[in-house]
Amino acid sequence: MDAIRIRGGKRLSGKIHVSGAKNAALPILCATLLSEGESLLRNVPALRDIDTTAALLRFLGRKVDCAPPLVRISGGAQSRPEAPYELVKQMRASVMVLGPLLARHGRAKVSLPGGCQIGARPVDQHLKGLEAMGATIRLERGYIVAECKRLRGSEVVFDLPTVTGTENLMMAAALAKGRTTLVNCAREPEVEELGRVLNKMGARVSGAGTDVIHIEGADELEPFDHAIISDRIEAGTYMVAAAAAGGDVLLEGAPLEDLEAVSARLRQAGVEVGREGDCVRIRRDPDRPLRAIDVTTAPHPGFPTDMQAQFMVLMCLAQGTSRIVETIFENRFMHVPELVRMGAHIDVDGHTAHVHGGHALSGAIVMATDLRASASLVIAGLVASEETDVLRVYHLDRGYEHMERKLAQLGADTTRIQSDM
Ligand code: EPU
Repeated sequence: MDAIRIRGGKRLSGKIHVSGAKNAALPILCATLLSEGESLLRNVPALRDIDTTAALLRFLGRKVDCAPPLVRISGGAQSRPEAPYELVKQMRASVMVLGPLLARHGRAKVSLPGGCQIGARPVDQHLKGLEAMGATIRLERGYIVAECKRLRGSEVVFDLPTVTGTENLMMAAALAKGRTTLVNCAREPEVEELGRVLNKMGARVSGAGTDVIHIEGADELEPFDHAIISDRIEAGTYMVAAAAAGGDVLLEGAPLEDLEAVSARLRQAGVEVGREGDCVRIRRDPDRPLRAIDVTTAPHPGFPTDMQAQFMVLMCLAQGTSRIVETIFENRFMHVPELVRMGAHIDVDGHTAHVHGGHALSGAIVMATDLRASASLVIAGLVASEETDVLRVYHLDRGYEHMERKLAQLGADTTRIQSDM
């Protein structure tokens, strides 16, 4: 299995390009199920989750030419509306084919995603919304079986803001009869991006990016040509990496406007974050101490849960104790025991981690069981003494395009190796 070997202690400098956003590309790939004909997606990142989605779309009867940054999807007359467990278990986001399949075919059978490392992650809000639009839903041998004649526009009030739940319902509503109003929606930039694509397809979506979204359904939708927005979490991860290792880094195409919460905390900690042309510039003198900052994760525009693990590494280097509260997922501190093995002083009490900074990290063999936790271990490796091997980087490859190469481009000593562990 692939691992990443990092020899720590190098400052980072130079420029890298931010890739297209994984969590925007995934729902947009699912949206291609809403129409026939050829859709073109540009600026798609080369990631394992994109390959998994391409395989799922092929299983559903589409022709997919997946050559990131370009993905071409065509066909569609003979789709079979069934997403099997073998594919859905690899990636929870696969559940986003449910809304489009049901809206277009009047029937969908999609495996329940099952457990997840970071939390229970139920899909009750997706199902409740589809039922409100007229679907009948039953669970059958681990599968969601949904049926309807034609979905009808309705008002759906989410009990809590859910990103993929909002996206699933937006796609379903785009082919429903009449007007749907979604209330208490997720406000993430990826939701707004899906709204732009659905509008290109001929649905009338307004309010995406706010907590109330209106969708006027269409009888038929058109294929589209769309370039995906840049990945704010990838950008945020390299911002934290540069802050931790110290140096002067330019991130080309980084969407600073979507990273307010992260850049504000970085500045409070003593990191320079600014805009320079179409780049975000991160500067930090590694000899100047970082301040300990408290962080609580929250839905957008709050501090993203997808940046919590990476920020925790930075706080391991700060002077004093920082309190990090995870409010979105119940089990998202899996990086903590691995960071402790590298010499970090962190106590976890329920959803709160107390990070006692200022203790030097030392290299170790570490392993994480989810994507963002793996990224945090790579950042820890950049500042640790000696050598760190981050094992099982297939988690990392789900969401970061060639992370070891991008870091090496900035002067880090990072290489991909084979490991039998
Ligand atoms: N929730 C429910 N019921 C539902 C749906 C969600 O109780 O029907 C709960 C979840 O268990 C969680 C909270 O609502 O406690 C928010 O979860 P959400 O549904 O917003 O998460 P998601 O849509 O499954 C997306 C991203 C995640 C990101 C979260 C939160 C995609 C494909 N995934 O997941 O990304 O952490 O939003 O921002 O967009 C990642 O990229 O590493 C990643 C995990």
